[in-house]
Amino acid sequence: LFAAVEMAPRDPILGLNEQFNADPNPNKVNLGVGVYYDDNGKLPLLKCVAAAEKQMLEAPKARGYLPIDGIAAYDKAVQGLVFGADSGAVKAGRIATVQGLGGTGGLKVGADFLKKVDPNAKVLISDPSWENHRALFEAAGFPVATYPYYDAAKRGIDFEGMLAALEAASARTIVVLHACCHNPTGYDLTLEQWKQVIETVKTRNLVPFLDMAYQGFGEGIAEDGAVIGLFMDAGLDIFVSTSFSKSFSLYGERVGALSVVAASKEEAERVLSQLKRVIRTNYSNPPIHGAQVVATVLTTPELRKQWEQELAEMRVRIKQMRTTLVEKLQAAGIRQDMSFITQQKGMFSYSGLTKEQMQRLRSEFGVYGVDSGRICVAALNSKNIDYVVDAVAKVS
Ligand code: LMR
Repeated sequence: LFAAVEMAPRDPILGLNEQFNADPNPNKVNLGVGVYYDDNGKLPLLKCVAAAEKQMLEAPKARGYLPIDGIAAYDKAVQGLVFGADSGAVKAGRIATVQGLGGTGGLKVGADFLKKVDPNAKVLISDPSWENHRALFEAAGFPVATYPYYDAAKRGIDFEGMLAALEAASARTIVVLHACCHNPTGYDLTLEQWKQVIETVKTRNLVPFLDMAYQGFGEGIAEDGAVIGLFMDAGLDIFVSTSFSKSFSLYGERVGALSVVAASKEEAERVLSQLKRVIRTNYSNPPIHGAQVVATVLTTPELRKQWEQELAEMRVRIKQMRTTLVEKLQAAGIRQDMSFITQQKGMFSYSGLTKEQMQRLRSEFGVYGVDSGRICVAALNSKNIDYVVDAVAKVS
């Protein structure tokens, strides 16, 4: 049966973890996967999470099956966070939200549902995009092409190219957009540019699928989520996948969601029934723990406040690391202007380093980043930054 099974390539992001873990270099630094570490290089357990878990432990509950779409209070809290509790669409019941297995799970439920709704649709992702976007939508059966996004020469966004590609897309093309903290480049559209994108999406009758995995890591929770409000104002049917992996430091709990905005309550109910079919036939129903933690934090005012503070601390530390990185690279004699690193948002920096340089960083110095040149700035700290800068200077 398995004689002809070919070896699959290593995952371009998670595969790096395997290599990193096997590397005996005592100075090794993992700037590959998008994970936030504190200044001591430790994965944080947020205080709000520990407090919610304490509450849960004090009133232990038996573990029955969750409903297929997850914990109702969690789905409601997700809607409040993503769309605003006062949103007309939330109040009108026009949004179907299901608990998902991380952001990836939300994307996949949405992709499988879309394949049923519109089997001949095509998918457009940004060039470049998160490595898993292409694989995920292809696995759901869609042909995947790209729209221009990153402009290496100008160290920014090829906005004209992006708009032109959207203008040229056939009606009902699914367009995957990064709501904030673009992965991998760190370059986000301005709100003015978003308005133009939304106009094009509307006139061309495209299907927007917003991936929001880093809300709160750019400028703030509300600022990073502002784009959702613009889509809602335009009256569009949209898909939004949410991840709490990073914003709650709950990577291994797989806590996320998918929200689908429909034209009416009745339509949203039909959509929800189909999302539930997708979930039921894939993994039946979601797990309890992580979603219960997030629901508890989001719905308990003191814990919510604490979460917002802890998220702000992570955001500020990342920004500090960006500034320090630029200063230290300049001090190390890198001639090129690296100040673009401070203009990028979120966990990542598209460093401009080539595949060969990234591979040298890995093999000679144990500094792990993605071959595309993406490095996770959120894994830099005051202890490892000099080593990383020295390694980058040596391969530059
Ligand atoms: C990343 O891009 O590193 C993260 O989103 C983690 C992942 O699943 O790839």
